[in-house]
Amino acid sequence: MSSAPQTGGGGGFRCTRKLTLAMSGGVLILVIALTVGLCVGLSSSDDVVTEDTPPFSIDHTANTFLLNGEPFRYVSGSFHYFRALPDAWRSRLRTMRASGLNALDTYVEWSLHNPHNGEYNWEGIADVVKFLEIAQEEDFYIILRPGPYICAERDNGGLPHWLFTKYPDIKVRTNDANYIKEVGIWYAQLMPRLQHLLIGNGGKIIMVQVENEYAAYYACDHDYLNWLRDETEKYVDNKALLFTVDIPNERMSCGKIENVFATTDFGIDRIFEIENIWKMLRELQPTGPLVNSEFYPGWLTHWQETNQRRDGQEVADALKTILSYNASVNLYMFFGGTNFGFTAGANYDLDGGIGYAADITSYDYDAVMDEAGGVTTKYELVKQVIGEVLELPQITLEPAKRLAYGKVELTPALELLSPEGRAALSKGTPVIAEKPKSFEEVDQYSGLLLYETTLPDMDLDPTLLKVEDLRDRAHVFVDRQLVGTLSREARIYQLPLSKGWGSTLQLLVENQGRINYDRANDTKGIFGQITMQLHNGGDLPLENWTTTAFPLEEATIAAWLAKRADVALDPKIAEQRLLRTGPIAYTGSFSVQEVGDTYLNMAGWGKGVAYVNGFNLGRYWPLGGPQITLYVPNELLKVGENSLVLLEYQRCNKTVNGSELPAVQLDAVAQLDGESNEAPQITKKST
Ligand SMILES: *[C@@H]1O[C@H](CO)[C@@H](O)[C@H](O)[C@H]1NC(C)=O
Ligand SMILES: *[C@@H]1O[C@H](CO)[C@@H](O)[C@H](O)[C@H]1NC(C)=O
Ligand SMILES: *[C@@H]1O[C@H](CO)[C@@H](O)[C@H](O)[C@H]1NC(C)=O
Ligand SMILES: *[C@@H]1O[C@H](CO)[C@@H](O)[C@H](O)[C@H]1NC(C)=O
Ligand SMILES: *[C@@H]1O[C@H](CO)[C@@H](O)[C@H](O)[C@H]1NC(C)=O
Repeated sequence: MSSAPQTGGGGGFRCTRKLTLAMSGGVLILVIALTVGLCVGLSSSDDVVTEDTPPFSIDHTANTFLLNGEPFRYVSGSFHYFRALPDAWRSRLRTMRASGLNALDTYVEWSLHNPHNGEYNWEGIADVVKFLEIAQEEDFYIILRPGPYICAERDNGGLPHWLFTKYPDIKVRTNDANYIKEVGIWYAQLMPRLQHLLIGNGGKIIMVQVENEYAAYYACDHDYLNWLRDETEKYVDNKALLFTVDIPNERMSCGKIENVFATTDFGIDRIFEIENIWKMLRELQPTGPLVNSEFYPGWLTHWQETNQRRDGQEVADALKTILSYNASVNLYMFFGGTNFGFTAGANYDLDGGIGYAADITSYDYDAVMDEAGGVTTKYELVKQVIGEVLELPQITLEPAKRLAYGKVELTPALELLSPEGRAALSKGTPVIAEKPKSFEEVDQYSGLLLYETTLPDMDLDPTLLKVEDLRDRAHVFVDRQLVGTLSREARIYQLPLSKGWGSTLQLLVENQGRINYDRANDTKGIFGQITMQLHNGGDLPLENWTTTAFPLEEATIAAWLAKRADVALDPKIAEQRLLRTGPIAYTGSFSVQEVGDTYLNMAGWGKGVAYVNGFNLGRYWPLGGPQITLYVPNELLKVGENSLVLLEYQRCNKTVNGSELPAVQLDAVAQLDGESNEAPQITKKST
């Protein structure tokens, strides 16, 4: 098995992982026999043309889709509404349509629409109905992927964190009674809003996915899949086609659902074995059109690795090959966009020797369009290939406006760990308990949690502090003085403390994004023992922890900005480059004459979160790389003064020239490939 590759097409892990064929012949034959049995049932029932024949169906003789009785094939592109601002939806869609795509593919993200138990959000970026209506107006058929698990490099694969608040032992994506009860409640909220958009009801949704790459999940629970099919069909009611997507490998049959149309997914790295892949799909489902539901024109990137790029010509050639089989295909991603706020997910890959790796904020993905929705060389090459099979519409695109607003000076304004910082940015009352509370236990999506306890008398100087099962990163302080950093990514879980440093131990824990692939139960906080080494070699557990919540939500930042007293911090603090006393919020403003897209260049800063006009742009981490700039959509800016807030965790961009204020730069170009040739290049182990 290989880890995320540095070259070639979409292998490695995302929501697709290569598995080597290691199944014994006997088992394989059994699986084929079973699945052929199921598919015969499917084709014979579908072949019966009745009054109820839906406008979108399958011709199992000609192996094609039928749209209103005519053979139909789609070339679609993925664009997830939650990765672009609503005011950008139409222009992104129009650019996609201009390339010749005739269908749009999108996931629906449960956690966005249902952020807390019983709380729903259908406004702004969560207005999925409006998004789909715009897509219809822009002349797309729609492929809907409601999950409810979506992977998608999103926190927890789109499953809400509060499932684990409500049911600590929930077995997601299985027939667990609590899980299916909650999916039922969610679908009862979601599906009625979308029913009018199904093609059988006069809309343009032609297909609705059931689960997502389920065969890659350990559970292989067909009771659950059958239940989810029926629950989906309860609302779809034959007004669109149900389908599944699975990675082509020997586990594939775990994702196949009786009476649901099966498709597969693969990128340019597997194009050489396309015959074999279609054969695997045919073994699962002997007839019907061939579909690649996720053809990867780029790939995802984690922090501290090389930015993933894919060659445009190779992508265009592979697309041509796929289309030569009369297949339908979806380009994942056609437009990637941005993981705004704390929505980026993470991967975990023990086999590849990597462990935990968080995804970057940008979801540029080296997709066909860039992060700001602009066309690329790859776009032109792909458009040419699409034009060979579909009619290209006459659409004139407006050129993108990317502007450099220059340097923005910033003033240190608040220390997170000070009494003022806690009062302004913490939420709720701190909780005292024997163990630190997890993010889920305090019903917190993301941000930071502060864990504090009193240090016991030390036997030794220094003595080792050990923190087991940390998720994901802890800045460690004694009496508000930084003594080091622990990290799940770096697998550093211990550090020495000296006698006499002070009495209060503080662990400020960052949630770097919940794992979205292979599992969806990555709860956050500290779950193992926290101990101090004793003279006799034993370990003394540290108990009685106070947990203080810092969700860092936009509303909290806005409330602080609105009522803050304009008092400068102690000049010594303002001079810091290394933030020895904990995170600092910096504020600044910049004036705009003409509104355009811009990029916040974080060079020289450490790690933190940035807010423009109160909107959380996402995590930045130029020290980790390769992403240096954060995309600032023009829709966030206004003519006149605009505000910028950074919550920096570890390092201030303070020039040697002490007279200058710390600063950031607003550039006209993105930097996703590292700051320079010395960009971090972590070469991953392949086994
Ligand atoms: C593709 O479809 C065309 C038209 O129906 C047909 O002539 C051709 O044989 C098909 N090609 C393949 C590879 O199935
Ligand atoms: C999370 O799920 C994985 C399987 O995907 C399982 O191996 C692991 O034990 C689970 N962890 C917890 C804490 O339940
Ligand atoms: C636990 O911590 C609280 C707050 O720091 C303190 O008031 C209390 O005395 C501690 N209890 C024990 C048993 O150490
Ligand atoms: C501060 O930021 C600027 C860009 O605004 C960058 O060029 C410079 O290297 C940074 N300074 C330090 C000390 O890293
Ligand atoms: C230091 O800052 C002052 C005032 O901004 C500027 O005139 C000077 O050139 C700077 N010196 C260096 C070495 O950057």
